[in-house]
Amino acid sequence: MDFIRQFGVVLVIAVLSGARADKLQIDPLIYEEQLLWVSGGAGLVNTYRIPLLTFTTRGSLLAFSEARKTSSFDIGAKFIALRRSTDRGATWSPTSFIVDDGSLVDGLNLGSVVVDEETGAVIVIYSLCFHRYHCKPSITMMVQSLDDGFTWSAPRNLNPQLGLMSFLAGPGFGIQKRHPPAVGRLVVCGHGSLAGDGVFCILSDDHGNTWRYGGELKSIPYNQPKNDLDFEPDECQPVELDDGSIVINVRNQNHYHCRCRIVVRSLDGGESLPVEELVFDHTLEDSAVAAGALEKEGVLYFTNPANANSRVNLTLRWSLNRGKSWVKDTLKIWAGPSGYSCITSLKGNETVDHKYIYVIYEKGQKDYFESISLVKIDLYSDQ
Ligand SMILES: *[C@@H]1O[C@H](CO)[C@@H](O)[C@H](O)[C@H]1NC(C)=O
Ligand SMILES: *[C@@H]1O[C@H](CO)[C@@H](O)[C@H](O)[C@H]1NC(C)=O
Repeated sequence: MDFIRQFGVVLVIAVLSGARADKLQIDPLIYEEQLLWVSGGAGLVNTYRIPLLTFTTRGSLLAFSEARKTSSFDIGAKFIALRRSTDRGATWSPTSFIVDDGSLVDGLNLGSVVVDEETGAVIVIYSLCFHRYHCKPSITMMVQSLDDGFTWSAPRNLNPQLGLMSFLAGPGFGIQKRHPPAVGRLVVCGHGSLAGDGVFCILSDDHGNTWRYGGELKSIPYNQPKNDLDFEPDECQPVELDDGSIVINVRNQNHYHCRCRIVVRSLDGGESLPVEELVFDHTLEDSAVAAGALEKEGVLYFTNPANANSRVNLTLRWSLNRGKSWVKDTLKIWAGPSGYSCITSLKGNETVDHKYIYVIYEKGQKDYFESISLVKIDLYSDQ
Protein backbone atom coordinates (compact mmCIF):
# COMPACT_ATOMS: atom_id res chain seq x y z
CA MET A 1 0.00 0.00 0.00
CA ASP A 2 1.57 3.31 -1.01
CA PHE A 3 1.65 6.30 1.30
CA ILE A 4 -1.22 8.23 -0.25
CA ARG A 5 -3.62 5.28 -0.10
CA GLN A 6 -2.60 4.38 3.40
CA PHE A 7 -2.92 7.96 4.55
CA GLY A 8 -6.34 8.19 2.89
CA VAL A 9 -7.61 5.05 4.63
CA VAL A 10 -6.34 6.19 8.02
CA LEU A 11 -8.00 9.56 7.54
CA VAL A 12 -11.36 8.04 6.64
CA ILE A 13 -11.27 5.72 9.66
CA ALA A 14 -10.32 8.59 11.95
CA VAL A 15 -13.18 10.74 10.69
CA LEU A 16 -15.73 7.93 10.78
CA SER A 17 -14.89 6.53 14.17
CA GLY A 18 -13.64 9.57 16.03
CA ALA A 19 -16.03 12.40 15.31
CA ARG A 20 -19.76 11.98 15.68
CA ALA A 21 -21.24 10.77 12.46
CA ASP A 22 -23.42 13.87 12.02
CA LYS A 23 -20.35 15.68 10.76
CA LEU A 24 -20.42 13.39 7.72
CA GLN A 25 -23.24 13.62 5.26
CA ILE A 26 -25.27 10.42 5.31
CA ASP A 27 -26.32 9.76 1.77
CA PRO A 28 -27.49 6.15 1.63
CA LEU A 29 -27.65 4.15 -1.55
CA ILE A 30 -28.59 0.52 -2.18
CA TYR A 31 -25.28 -1.10 -3.04
CA GLU A 32 -26.61 -4.57 -3.77
CA GLU A 33 -29.69 -6.73 -3.19
CA GLN A 34 -30.14 -10.51 -3.00
CA LEU A 35 -33.19 -12.70 -2.41
CA LEU A 36 -32.34 -15.12 0.40
CA TRP A 37 -35.62 -17.04 0.45
CA VAL A 38 -38.49 -17.35 -2.00
CA SER A 39 -41.87 -18.67 -0.87
CA GLY A 40 -44.09 -20.63 -3.17
CA GLY A 41 -44.35 -24.18 -1.97
CA ALA A 42 -41.26 -25.81 -3.47
CA GLY A 43 -39.87 -28.54 -1.20
CA LEU A 44 -40.67 -28.67 2.49
CA VAL A 45 -41.65 -25.03 2.90
CA ASN A 46 -44.75 -23.12 1.90
CA THR A 47 -43.81 -19.62 3.10
CA TYR A 48 -40.78 -17.87 4.57
CA ARG A 49 -41.51 -15.04 6.97
CA ILE A 50 -40.12 -13.09 9.96
CA PRO A 51 -36.52 -12.38 8.91
CA LEU A 52 -33.81 -11.78 11.55
CA LEU A 53 -30.26 -10.66 10.86
CA THR A 54 -27.09 -10.40 12.92
CA PHE A 55 -23.33 -10.38 12.73
CA THR A 56 -21.42 -12.76 14.98
CA THR A 57 -18.36 -11.76 17.00
CA ARG A 58 -16.20 -13.40 14.32
CA GLY A 59 -17.78 -11.24 11.62
CA SER A 60 -20.07 -13.81 10.01
CA LEU A 61 -23.49 -12.64 8.90
CA LEU A 62 -26.42 -14.86 9.94
CA ALA A 63 -29.92 -14.61 8.45
CA PHE A 64 -32.83 -16.47 10.08
CA SER A 65 -36.47 -16.88 9.14
CA GLU A 66 -39.56 -18.90 9.95
CA ALA A 67 -39.98 -21.61 7.32
CA ARG A 68 -43.72 -22.28 7.48
CA LYS A 69 -44.37 -25.84 6.33
CA THR A 70 -47.95 -25.87 5.07
CA SER A 71 -49.37 -22.34 4.82
CA SER A 72 -48.55 -18.67 5.25
CA PHE A 73 -50.40 -18.51 8.61
CA ASP A 74 -48.76 -17.57 11.91
CA ILE A 75 -49.87 -20.84 13.50
CA GLY A 76 -48.87 -24.23 12.05
CA ALA A 77 -45.66 -26.28 12.00
CA LYS A 78 -42.37 -24.64 11.04
CA PHE A 79 -38.61 -24.82 10.88
CA ILE A 80 -36.20 -22.11 11.86
CA ALA A 81 -34.21 -21.54 8.67
CA LEU A 82 -30.63 -20.22 8.69
CA ARG A 83 -28.25 -19.00 6.01
CA ARG A 84 -24.72 -17.97 6.85
CA SER A 85 -22.23 -15.71 5.09
CA THR A 86 -18.53 -15.48 5.97
CA ASP A 87 -17.76 -12.73 3.43
CA ARG A 88 -20.05 -9.95 4.69
CA GLY A 89 -23.03 -11.04 2.59
CA ALA A 90 -21.37 -11.59 -0.78
CA THR A 91 -22.05 -15.34 -0.80
CA TRP A 92 -24.33 -17.50 1.35
CA SER A 93 -24.50 -21.07 2.58
CA PRO A 94 -27.49 -23.15 1.51
CA THR A 95 -30.43 -23.06 3.94
CA SER A 96 -30.19 -25.27 6.99
CA PHE A 97 -33.01 -25.90 9.42
CA ILE A 98 -31.72 -25.44 12.96
CA VAL A 99 -35.03 -26.17 14.73
CA ASP A 100 -37.90 -28.41 13.59
CA ASP A 101 -41.15 -28.36 15.57
CA GLY A 102 -42.55 -31.48 13.88
CA SER A 103 -46.24 -31.18 13.14
CA LEU A 104 -47.45 -28.86 15.90
CA VAL A 105 -50.80 -27.18 15.28
CA ASP A 106 -49.57 -23.95 16.95
CA GLY A 107 -45.89 -24.31 16.13
CA LEU A 108 -42.84 -22.18 16.68
CA ASN A 109 -42.66 -18.41 16.18
CA LEU A 110 -39.60 -16.17 15.93
CA GLY A 111 -38.23 -14.56 17.84
CA SER A 112 -35.04 -12.64 18.58
CA VAL A 113 -31.38 -13.32 17.99
CA VAL A 114 -28.86 -11.93 20.46
CA VAL A 115 -25.09 -12.19 20.34
CA ASP A 116 -23.05 -12.25 23.54
CA GLU A 117 -19.88 -10.29 22.72
CA GLU A 118 -18.00 -11.79 25.70
CA THR A 119 -18.64 -15.49 24.99
CA GLY A 120 -19.35 -15.29 21.26
CA ALA A 121 -22.60 -17.23 21.78
CA VAL A 122 -25.40 -16.67 19.28
CA ILE A 123 -28.72 -17.11 21.10
CA VAL A 124 -32.12 -17.45 19.44
CA ILE A 125 -35.24 -16.99 21.56
CA TYR A 126 -38.51 -18.28 20.08
CA SER A 127 -41.90 -19.52 21.27
CA LEU A 128 -44.06 -22.62 20.95
CA CYS A 129 -47.84 -22.52 21.23
CA PHE A 130 -47.76 -18.73 21.49
CA HIS A 131 -51.41 -18.38 20.41
CA ARG A 132 -52.53 -21.22 22.71
CA TYR A 133 -54.45 -22.61 19.76
CA HIS A 134 -55.40 -26.20 20.72
CA CYS A 135 -52.46 -26.29 23.15
CA LYS A 136 -51.23 -24.83 26.41
CA PRO A 137 -49.22 -23.38 27.94
CA SER A 138 -47.17 -21.16 25.67
CA ILE A 139 -43.46 -22.00 25.98
CA THR A 140 -40.52 -19.63 25.61
CA MET A 141 -37.59 -21.52 24.07
CA MET A 142 -33.88 -20.89 23.57
CA VAL A 143 -31.32 -22.44 21.27
CA GLN A 144 -27.69 -21.35 20.98
CA SER A 145 -24.56 -21.76 18.89
CA LEU A 146 -21.08 -21.60 20.39
CA ASP A 147 -19.26 -22.06 17.07
CA ASP A 148 -20.28 -19.04 15.01
CA GLY A 149 -23.60 -20.51 13.82
CA PHE A 150 -22.28 -23.85 12.54
CA THR A 151 -23.94 -26.12 15.08
CA TRP A 152 -26.80 -25.50 17.47
CA SER A 153 -27.66 -26.77 20.94
CA ALA A 154 -30.76 -28.77 21.72
CA PRO A 155 -33.70 -26.39 22.35
CA ARG A 156 -34.15 -25.40 26.01
CA ASN A 157 -37.50 -24.64 27.66
CA LEU A 158 -37.24 -21.38 29.62
CA ASN A 159 -40.65 -21.68 31.33
CA PRO A 160 -39.18 -23.10 34.56
CA GLN A 161 -37.39 -19.72 34.89
CA LEU A 162 -39.95 -17.41 33.31
CA GLY A 163 -43.30 -18.96 34.22
CA LEU A 164 -46.30 -19.62 32.01
CA MET A 165 -46.99 -16.23 30.44
CA SER A 166 -47.25 -16.11 26.63
CA PHE A 167 -44.20 -14.20 25.43
CA LEU A 168 -42.93 -13.80 21.89
CA ALA A 169 -39.56 -12.11 21.51
CA GLY A 170 -38.93 -9.41 18.91
CA PRO A 171 -39.09 -10.05 16.12
CA GLY A 172 -35.60 -8.66 15.60
CA PHE A 173 -32.47 -8.70 17.71
CA GLY A 174 -31.86 -8.56 21.42
CA ILE A 175 -29.07 -6.39 22.77
CA GLN A 176 -26.13 -6.77 25.10
CA LYS A 177 -25.62 -3.66 27.23
CA ARG A 178 -22.37 -1.87 26.33
CA HIS A 179 -22.79 1.22 28.49
CA PRO A 180 -23.79 1.51 32.18
CA PRO A 181 -26.09 0.58 33.79
CA ALA A 182 -25.86 -3.23 33.66
CA VAL A 183 -22.95 -3.65 31.23
CA GLY A 184 -22.94 -7.16 29.74
CA ARG A 185 -26.64 -7.82 30.39
CA LEU A 186 -28.63 -9.48 27.61
CA VAL A 187 -31.95 -7.71 27.01
CA VAL A 188 -34.58 -9.34 24.78
CA CYS A 189 -37.89 -7.52 24.39
CA GLY A 190 -41.10 -8.87 22.92
CA HIS A 191 -44.82 -8.93 23.44
CA GLY A 192 -47.54 -10.86 25.25
CA SER A 193 -50.49 -12.80 23.87
CA LEU A 194 -53.46 -10.99 22.35
CA ALA A 195 -55.50 -10.23 25.49
CA GLY A 196 -52.39 -10.06 27.69
CA ASP A 197 -50.53 -8.01 25.13
CA GLY A 198 -47.94 -5.37 25.90
CA VAL A 199 -44.19 -5.03 25.71
CA PHE A 200 -42.14 -7.20 28.09
CA CYS A 201 -38.37 -7.59 28.33
CA ILE A 202 -36.51 -10.64 29.57
CA LEU A 203 -33.04 -10.13 31.05
CA SER A 204 -30.01 -12.34 31.58
CA ASP A 205 -26.98 -11.30 33.64
CA ASP A 206 -25.14 -14.60 33.15
CA HIS A 207 -24.74 -14.91 29.37
CA GLY A 208 -28.09 -16.58 28.80
CA ASN A 209 -27.95 -19.26 31.50
CA THR A 210 -30.82 -17.77 33.49
CA TRP A 211 -33.53 -15.36 32.44
CA ARG A 212 -36.06 -13.27 34.35
CA TYR A 213 -38.71 -10.71 33.44
CA GLY A 214 -37.69 -7.04 33.60
CA GLY A 215 -39.67 -4.05 32.35
CA GLU A 216 -43.25 -4.20 31.15
CA LEU A 217 -45.60 -1.86 29.34
CA LYS A 218 -49.00 -3.50 29.57
CA SER A 219 -51.92 -3.05 27.19
CA ILE A 220 -55.12 -1.36 28.44
CA PRO A 221 -57.48 -2.98 29.33
CA TYR A 222 -54.96 -5.65 30.31
CA ASN A 223 -55.87 -9.31 29.83
CA GLN A 224 -59.26 -8.35 28.43
CA PRO A 225 -60.63 -8.22 24.91
CA LYS A 226 -59.66 -5.05 23.05
CA ASN A 227 -61.60 -2.53 21.01
CA ASP A 228 -60.21 -0.70 18.05
CA LEU A 229 -58.05 2.25 19.22
CA ASP A 230 -57.26 0.63 22.58
CA PHE A 231 -53.67 0.79 23.85
CA GLU A 232 -51.94 -2.34 22.64
CA PRO A 233 -48.14 -2.18 22.38
CA ASP A 234 -47.01 -5.23 20.43
CA GLU A 235 -43.94 -6.38 18.45
CA CYS A 236 -40.84 -4.32 19.19
CA GLN A 237 -37.15 -3.70 18.56
CA PRO A 238 -34.83 -2.42 21.35
CA VAL A 239 -31.61 -0.51 20.67
CA GLU A 240 -29.09 0.84 23.16
CA LEU A 241 -28.06 4.48 22.76
CA ASP A 242 -24.59 5.75 23.72
CA ASP A 243 -26.02 7.24 26.95
CA GLY A 244 -26.86 3.71 28.15
CA SER A 245 -30.62 4.08 27.73
CA ILE A 246 -32.57 1.47 25.81
CA VAL A 247 -35.02 2.82 23.25
CA ILE A 248 -37.70 0.37 22.15
CA ASN A 249 -39.57 1.02 18.92
CA VAL A 250 -43.00 -0.60 19.20
CA ARG A 251 -45.86 -1.68 16.92
CA ASN A 252 -49.03 0.22 17.83
CA GLN A 253 -51.42 -2.65 17.19
CA ASN A 254 -54.78 -0.88 17.54
CA HIS A 255 -53.68 2.58 16.36
CA TYR A 256 -54.02 4.16 19.81
CA HIS A 257 -53.49 7.94 19.48
CA CYS A 258 -52.09 7.72 15.93
CA ARG A 259 -51.25 5.46 13.03
CA CYS A 260 -47.63 5.70 14.04
CA ARG A 261 -44.96 4.06 16.20
CA ILE A 262 -44.88 3.92 19.98
CA VAL A 263 -41.41 4.59 21.43
CA VAL A 264 -40.60 3.78 25.05
CA ARG A 265 -37.28 4.17 26.85
CA SER A 266 -35.72 2.25 29.71
CA LEU A 267 -33.18 4.13 31.83
CA ASP A 268 -32.31 1.21 34.11
CA GLY A 269 -31.04 -1.50 31.79
CA GLY A 270 -34.48 -2.88 30.95
CA GLU A 271 -35.76 -3.24 34.54
CA SER A 272 -38.64 -0.83 33.86
CA LEU A 273 -40.46 0.83 30.95
CA PRO A 274 -41.97 3.92 32.59
CA VAL A 275 -44.97 5.64 31.01
CA GLU A 276 -43.16 8.96 31.54
CA GLU A 277 -40.65 7.81 28.93
CA LEU A 278 -43.28 6.92 26.32
CA VAL A 279 -43.86 8.99 23.17
CA PHE A 280 -45.74 8.57 19.91
CA ASP A 281 -43.49 9.26 16.94
CA HIS A 282 -45.81 10.88 14.39
CA THR A 283 -43.08 11.01 11.74
CA LEU A 284 -42.91 7.20 11.78
CA GLU A 285 -46.24 6.48 10.09
CA ASP A 286 -47.12 2.81 10.37
CA SER A 287 -49.99 0.45 9.66
CA ALA A 288 -49.17 -1.82 12.67
CA VAL A 289 -46.27 -4.04 11.62
CA ALA A 290 -42.88 -5.12 12.96
CA ALA A 291 -40.10 -2.64 12.12
CA GLY A 292 -36.31 -2.48 12.19
CA ALA A 293 -34.06 -0.18 14.21
CA LEU A 294 -30.31 0.14 14.71
CA GLU A 295 -27.87 2.47 16.44
CA LYS A 296 -24.56 2.91 14.63
CA GLU A 297 -21.87 5.47 15.45
CA GLY A 298 -24.26 7.98 16.97
CA VAL A 299 -26.96 7.65 14.29
CA LEU A 300 -30.30 5.94 14.83
CA TYR A 301 -31.71 4.08 11.82
CA PHE A 302 -35.29 2.87 11.28
CA THR A 303 -37.00 0.76 8.60
CA ASN A 304 -40.70 0.03 8.08
CA PRO A 305 -43.30 -0.02 5.33
CA ALA A 306 -43.86 3.75 5.59
CA ASN A 307 -47.59 3.92 5.00
CA ALA A 308 -50.43 4.44 7.48
CA ASN A 309 -52.75 1.91 5.89
CA SER A 310 -50.93 -0.92 4.18
CA ARG A 311 -47.68 -2.86 4.04
CA VAL A 312 -45.96 -1.10 1.14
CA ASN A 313 -43.11 1.38 0.72
CA LEU A 314 -40.24 -0.09 2.74
CA THR A 315 -38.24 2.99 3.76
CA LEU A 316 -35.04 3.75 5.65
CA ARG A 317 -34.95 6.78 7.93
CA TRP A 318 -32.16 8.12 10.10
CA SER A 319 -31.91 10.44 13.08
CA LEU A 320 -28.91 12.47 14.23
CA ASN A 321 -30.40 13.33 17.64
CA ARG A 322 -31.30 9.94 19.16
CA GLY A 323 -34.72 9.83 17.51
CA LYS A 324 -36.00 13.25 18.62
CA SER A 325 -36.44 14.05 14.93
CA TRP A 326 -35.68 12.35 11.64
CA VAL A 327 -33.71 13.72 8.70
CA LYS A 328 -36.10 14.80 5.93
CA ASP A 329 -34.38 12.68 3.28
CA THR A 330 -35.36 9.02 3.20
CA LEU A 331 -34.18 6.01 1.22
CA LYS A 332 -36.95 4.06 -0.48
CA ILE A 333 -35.85 0.42 -0.41
CA TRP A 334 -38.90 -1.09 -2.13
CA ALA A 335 -42.05 0.77 -3.23
CA GLY A 336 -44.19 -2.34 -3.48
CA PRO A 337 -45.56 -4.80 -0.90
CA SER A 338 -43.15 -5.10 2.03
CA GLY A 339 -43.48 -6.24 5.62
CA TYR A 340 -41.21 -7.07 8.55
CA SER A 341 -37.60 -5.87 8.53
CA CYS A 342 -34.42 -6.12 10.60
CA ILE A 343 -31.19 -4.06 10.38
CA THR A 344 -27.64 -4.93 11.33
CA SER A 345 -24.06 -3.80 10.78
CA LEU A 346 -20.62 -4.94 11.84
CA LYS A 347 -18.85 -3.05 14.60
CA GLY A 348 -15.51 -3.74 12.97
CA ASN A 349 -12.25 -1.93 12.28
CA GLU A 350 -12.30 -1.89 8.52
CA THR A 351 -13.54 1.03 6.43
CA VAL A 352 -16.27 -1.13 4.92
CA ASP A 353 -17.64 -1.78 8.40
CA HIS A 354 -18.28 1.93 8.91
CA LYS A 355 -19.76 2.31 5.47
CA TYR A 356 -22.44 -0.38 5.24
CA ILE A 357 -25.60 -1.43 6.99
CA TYR A 358 -27.68 -4.46 6.02
CA VAL A 359 -31.47 -4.64 5.93
CA ILE A 360 -33.39 -7.91 5.60
CA TYR A 361 -37.09 -7.58 4.79
CA GLU A 362 -40.21 -9.26 3.49
CA LYS A 363 -40.73 -8.32 -0.15
CA GLY A 364 -43.23 -9.10 -2.86
CA GLN A 365 -44.86 -8.02 -6.10
CA LYS A 366 -48.42 -8.82 -5.06
CA ASP A 367 -48.10 -9.95 -1.43
CA TYR A 368 -45.37 -8.88 0.98
CA PHE A 369 -44.59 -12.49 2.02
CA GLU A 370 -43.48 -13.73 -1.41
CA SER A 371 -39.79 -13.51 -0.58
CA ILE A 372 -37.17 -12.40 1.94
CA SER A 373 -34.59 -10.04 0.57
CA LEU A 374 -31.32 -8.58 1.84
CA VAL A 375 -30.05 -5.15 0.86
CA LYS A 376 -26.57 -3.85 1.56
CA ILE A 377 -26.73 -0.08 1.96
CA ASP A 378 -23.78 2.26 1.47
CA LEU A 379 -24.31 5.02 4.04
CA TYR A 380 -21.77 7.42 2.61
CA SER A 381 -22.21 6.94 -1.12
CA ASP A 382 -20.91 10.48 -1.73
CA GLN A 383 -17.55 9.94 -0.04
C1 LIG B 1 -43.42 6.33 1.16
O1 LIG B 1 -42.67 6.89 2.22
C2 LIG B 1 -42.31 8.24 2.01
C3 LIG B 1 -41.42 8.64 3.18
O2 LIG B 1 -42.13 8.55 4.38
C4 LIG B 1 -43.54 9.11 1.88
O3 LIG B 1 -43.17 10.44 1.60
C5 LIG B 1 -44.41 8.58 0.75
O4 LIG B 1 -45.63 9.29 0.71
C6 LIG B 1 -44.72 7.11 0.97
N1 LIG B 1 -45.44 6.58 -0.16
C7 LIG B 1 -46.43 5.68 -0.03
C8 LIG B 1 -47.10 5.24 -1.30
O5 LIG B 1 -46.80 5.23 1.04
C1 LIG C 1 -10.12 -4.03 16.05
O1 LIG C 1 -8.83 -3.60 16.39
C2 LIG C 1 -8.48 -3.83 17.75
C3 LIG C 1 -7.13 -3.17 18.02
O2 LIG C 1 -6.23 -3.44 16.96
C4 LIG C 1 -8.49 -5.33 18.01
O3 LIG C 1 -8.17 -5.58 19.35
C5 LIG C 1 -9.88 -5.88 17.69
O4 LIG C 1 -9.88 -7.29 17.82
C6 LIG C 1 -10.29 -5.52 16.27
N1 LIG C 1 -11.68 -5.90 16.07
C7 LIG C 1 -12.10 -6.59 15.00
C8 LIG C 1 -13.56 -6.89 14.94
O5 LIG C 1 -11.36 -6.95 14.11
